[in-house]
Amino acid sequence: MSSSHGSFSPLNIVAVSGGLNTPSKTEALVQEILNELGEATPINVHFIKFSEIGHLLGGAIYRNQLPQRVQDDLAKVEAADALIVGTPVYRASFTGLFKHFFDFVEQTALVDVPVLLAASGGSDRHALVLEHQLRPLFSFFQAQTLPIGVYATDRDFTPEYTIKSELLRERITLAVARALPILEWAPAKGQRAEVIKAKTEQANQNLGINKQIEQDEVLPSAAVPSLDAAESRLHHKTSKTLKSNVA
Ligand SMILES: Cc1cc2nc3c(=O)[nH]c(=O)nc-3n(C[C@H](O)[C@H](O)[C@H](O)COP(=O)(O)O)c2cc1C
Repeated sequence: MSSSHGSFSPLNIVAVSGGLNTPSKTEALVQEILNELGEATPINVHFIKFSEIGHLLGGAIYRNQLPQRVQDDLAKVEAADALIVGTPVYRASFTGLFKHFFDFVEQTALVDVPVLLAASGGSDRHALVLEHQLRPLFSFFQAQTLPIGVYATDRDFTPEYTIKSELLRERITLAVARALPILEWAPAKGQRAEVIKAKTEQANQNLGINKQIEQDEVLPSAAVPSLDAAESRLHHKTSKTLKSNVA
């Protein structure tokens, strides 16, 4: 229940870890971010682990070729109030399967959805994977990538894959502290599941990673629940003009 006294209805957070191993540093990192966020504000969490679903993704070109479990995960991503995404660095980028999964996400579904970016790599030298690979991917979706991302290296973890680095913990705290006002402000939170339903059903039937779609309709976003209301303030532009410029 929201009130003006600072209590909030739980945020529906969907976390995605692209780590394929068990145990996985990426999973541990994403879990730590979730823990930190959960201490600060009520959250419902759906955690998608590629260590569990990675092998179910390969080979599919159409979304309806994916196992039901993955289709359900995609629906959760599309209905989330906010995402926390993490990937291991493979060959200087996110993993191919991580990209493959997001290729199946309906391309207008994440407009204005806050996304916290995280990655783990073997080397400091690939820390900019957050800025040069992950941020552009989520900018494509017109998501709100949060300003502070979190990058960890093998040195930040114990042999049991728990986090041992104080600097990394501080970075997680900073990332979550900076994310909180944005996450809690989102006026459409909790309502996205309803507005996204039809899009998700359509995507389950038609979406193929080989198909380019016209972006003729942008769903109510977290930041602008009614695009029409926002557009009506821009009286010198027609809806048509605005909608054709969203791609
Ligand atoms: C196939 C493969 C490619 C990798 N390529 C890179 C790389 O280009 N840069 C890097 O910093 N680390 C690289 N690594 C190291 C992993 O990113 C790192 O160990 C990561 O934390 C593993 O995450 P996980 O424990 O969640 O699997 C690579 C690892 C594998 C298995």
